[in-house]
Amino acid sequence: MRTVYVNGEYLPEDQAKVSIFDRGFLMADGVYEVTSVLDGKLVDFDGHAVRLDRSLSELSLHSPVTRDELLQIHRELVARNALTDGLIYLQITRGAPADRDFAFPDPDEVPPTIVLFTQSKPGLADAPAAKTGIRVISIEDIRWGRRDIKTVQLLYPSMGKMMAKAKGCDDAWMVENGYVTEGTSNNAYIVRDGRIVTRPKTNDILHGITRAAVLRYAEEAQMEVDERPFTLDEARAADEAFVTSASTFVMPVVEIDGTPIGTGAPGPVAARLREIYLEESRKAAI
Ligand code: PDD
Repeated sequence: MRTVYVNGEYLPEDQAKVSIFDRGFLMADGVYEVTSVLDGKLVDFDGHAVRLDRSLSELSLHSPVTRDELLQIHRELVARNALTDGLIYLQITRGAPADRDFAFPDPDEVPPTIVLFTQSKPGLADAPAAKTGIRVISIEDIRWGRRDIKTVQLLYPSMGKMMAKAKGCDDAWMVENGYVTEGTSNNAYIVRDGRIVTRPKTNDILHGITRAAVLRYAEEAQMEVDERPFTLDEARAADEAFVTSASTFVMPVVEIDGTPIGTGAPGPVAARLREIYLEESRKAAI
């Protein structure tokens, strides 16, 4: 039984409750973060906290806790749940007004709801898929136009994951006007002639915290990075492909819509970046 955090209280998971009028439940009116934990330490906490603030402010939501309190809650949950490797999920919604209404409630009357819980993933950094790579399908990106805000509107990404599973694959890459935007819950990359290509940070994609770190490490390692959109055709013809996220770190993609990428096995650039990312993240974790 996990100990979770809800609106100022640490509770056993089966005693933690949120109102049926919560706007997160009724309207997907909320934002979230997923922070990985390695060796009992938080990976890139500051990056996630900064992005959370940005998501909140884009939606005129107010954080019920300070940055320091947030760090303390994360650490307390790691300690109380004896979490070694895994994830911490955080969600803040616009709270629970007295009734359903499209208009936002007055923030002075309705406090936001904040929920955090741990997800234990022993061996998170040694996922077998990192050695074999994952297989993706492509699907049309029909999400809304503010994908840079990390909202809990995850129905379409969730459907994309199911479409991939139905085809015996692991994930879906979303495509808009012929260009790949991102994976259902990760940022997408290809490697061509040694150059790493990934879509630039616009409203079209989530600005991944792992992405920022990986691109920084790539540049420090003198790898060439092009931040530009790439097409699905380019991806199929690439030497390598991979995705990044807080839950998968750097994960090779070895097949898109049944077409093997490069040799059809994880490539050296993704493998090297995964190694550097894990090494540096463990060092910097708090
Ligand atoms: N997803 N793009 C999308 C659409 C995402 O949902 C995520 C993260 C990312 C990668 O961001 P980061 O590197 O900050 O994790 C990109 C999390 C892991 C999730 O929904 O579980």
